[in-house]
Amino acid sequence: MAVFLLFLLSSVSCLATALAQQSHLNISLGSSLTPTGNSSSWSSHSGLFAFGFYQQGNGYAVGIYLAGIPGKTVIWTANRLSPVFPSNVSLVLSSDGRLILQHTQGQDIVIADPSESISSASMLDSGNFVLYNSDKKIVWQSFEHPTNTLLPGQQLATGHELYSSASETDDSMGIFRIKMQDDGNLVQYPVRKPGSPGYAYYASNTFGNGVTLNLDGDGHLYLINSSLTILSNLTKGGYPQDGRVYMAKIDVDGIFRLYSYSSNQGNRSILWESVEDKCTPKGLCGPNGFCTMMDNVAECRCPPGFDFVNPGNWSSGCERNFTTESCKSNSITNVKYEIRSLANTVWEDNTFATMETSTQEDCEKQCLDDCNCEAAFYKDGECRKQRLPLTYGKRTSDSNVALVKVGTLVSISESVIPSSPPKSIKKEIRVDILVIGISLAVFGVMISVTAGVYVHRNQVRAYKKITQSGNVEFVEDAAPKAC
Ligand SMILES: *[C@@H]1O[C@H](CO)[C@@H](O)[C@H](O)[C@H]1NC(C)=O
Ligand SMILES: *[C@@H]1O[C@H](CO)[C@@H](O)[C@H](O)[C@H]1NC(C)=O
Ligand SMILES: *[C@@H]1O[C@H](CO)[C@@H](O)[C@H](O)[C@H]1NC(C)=O
Ligand SMILES: *[C@@H]1O[C@H](CO)[C@@H](O)[C@H](O)[C@H]1NC(C)=O
Ligand SMILES: *[C@@H]1O[C@H](CO)[C@@H](O)[C@H](O)[C@H]1NC(C)=O
Ligand SMILES: *[C@@H]1O[C@H](CO)[C@@H](O)[C@H](O)[C@H]1NC(C)=O
Ligand SMILES: *[C@@H]1O[C@H](CO)[C@@H](O)[C@H](O)[C@H]1NC(C)=O
Ligand SMILES: *[C@@H]1O[C@H](CO)[C@@H](O)[C@H](O)[C@H]1NC(C)=O
Repeated sequence: MAVFLLFLLSSVSCLATALAQQSHLNISLGSSLTPTGNSSSWSSHSGLFAFGFYQQGNGYAVGIYLAGIPGKTVIWTANRLSPVFPSNVSLVLSSDGRLILQHTQGQDIVIADPSESISSASMLDSGNFVLYNSDKKIVWQSFEHPTNTLLPGQQLATGHELYSSASETDDSMGIFRIKMQDDGNLVQYPVRKPGSPGYAYYASNTFGNGVTLNLDGDGHLYLINSSLTILSNLTKGGYPQDGRVYMAKIDVDGIFRLYSYSSNQGNRSILWESVEDKCTPKGLCGPNGFCTMMDNVAECRCPPGFDFVNPGNWSSGCERNFTTESCKSNSITNVKYEIRSLANTVWEDNTFATMETSTQEDCEKQCLDDCNCEAAFYKDGECRKQRLPLTYGKRTSDSNVALVKVGTLVSISESVIPSSPPKSIKKEIRVDILVIGISLAVFGVMISVTAGVYVHRNQVRAYKKITQSGNVEFVEDAAPKAC
């Protein structure tokens, strides 16, 4: 009885919301929305979904959101490369049959681009926003252009992908993706990396023709091939359907999750996730950084001798807090190197030389003595020399010890200037200091330039190496880590 009442209450509140937002079952040509005016969205019949403006940053984005549930969960965003608009724009279903965003001044932005002109539009109760032609045939639908979320009845078609958002408050494109590949495998990769096995951090390991990812109303998330054979059940389904909405979403942290939303309480729970370890998504911490779990929250850190490139942005990674010297100049140096170790920490293996060594100390010495060695991994008597950048680092239970070469600047006064110059030749020494100072400055500039070129070359080489080694590492890398 109580449940029924709650349901009734929620229906009434949905209806009220729908009325307030002007329920449009059939949006006709000439209709328009503005971010701050009386009409900022078009609701579905039930009031559960709405299409229109929602607040984002200092402006407004256009999208579809759960209007009937507290919190306005966004499930689709238009113009994802640049989704935020000022308040003086309007969204128009223009009389010439286009859905466009008009700036008070300036060019129109096309929100949906069907091949035919539109006669009407509708926000359906399924969460699908559709555009019709004059024959009432659907010519464009948001379900065929997913951003980061799949709803029940929606499908991720072969060759299509979902992209994570940049942050919880920024729906522009983030750094992770999930792709329904042509070969039938559902795989997750970092956005800026090619879809090759070495970059994968989750794979369904299904194979077939015309495979699609599907979500049903009972929370059943599964992969079927073109003859409708289920290749894999990601969830069993059969979850309660009243007062619940299910949705599959690639989150900001790169993990693909199935959520259950309660339309009464507005709370949500996770029913399934592609990986359990929040440090698994590759690229979360950027070059040289490593991921570690603190109270069940993933956190990025820099190795000793490194600082964050941009402390507010983990994916920009870490850089050395000292300048290195070129391997060619083994003459006068003002950088002193030492090795710092990090236990139970692993990065991708880009070994350029493997040494059999008896001890960790021996490995440290091998790396210190090799100008090309910037870090080394020591495990089970094996010493593997590395160049920067170190990629996809994380803390694990693995016994690998990472040895990082750290440079400290030896102060110039210690190494060059005599400690107590005789009084009589003070003037000459001043000139000397000046000359030495200028030479050192010029030398320093030369070193930085050379080092810059060197580091850049190393980066190019290292990335090539990942791509090349990709196929070899496929089984290991692409295997689902937790499911
Ligand atoms: C929407 O309304 C217009 C005019 O009211 C009508 O011509 C059109 O057929 C309707 N479209 C749909 C899909 O119901
Ligand atoms: C908004 O609604 C109010 C009351 O219904 C009306 O007086 C006002 O003119 C409307 N404003 C616009 C911009 O439509
Ligand atoms: C619209 O808003 C933008 C940003 O707030 C402003 O730069 C622009 O001048 C405005 N345009 C008009 C015509 O008011
Ligand atoms: C779909 O999978 C089933 C079972 O593996 C297989 O028999 C069938 O041939 C597949 N269909 C296509 C079109 O690949
Ligand atoms: C997947 O689940 C459906 C029903 O939820 C079941 O009928 C089917 O046998 C399952 N298939 C596999 C491959 O587990
Ligand atoms: C919402 O919270 C209630 C009470 O804590 C719980 O019974 C329900 O399962 C939750 N619903 C979801 C979808 O998490
Ligand atoms: C660089 O990092 C090392 C190790 O973390 C630290 O000892 C040193 O003081 C740092 N140097 C600078 C210039 O920040
Ligand atoms: C973070 O850094 C990356 C790489 O430098 C950059 O592409 C991205 O736009 C940055 N993100 C934010 C939110 O600043």
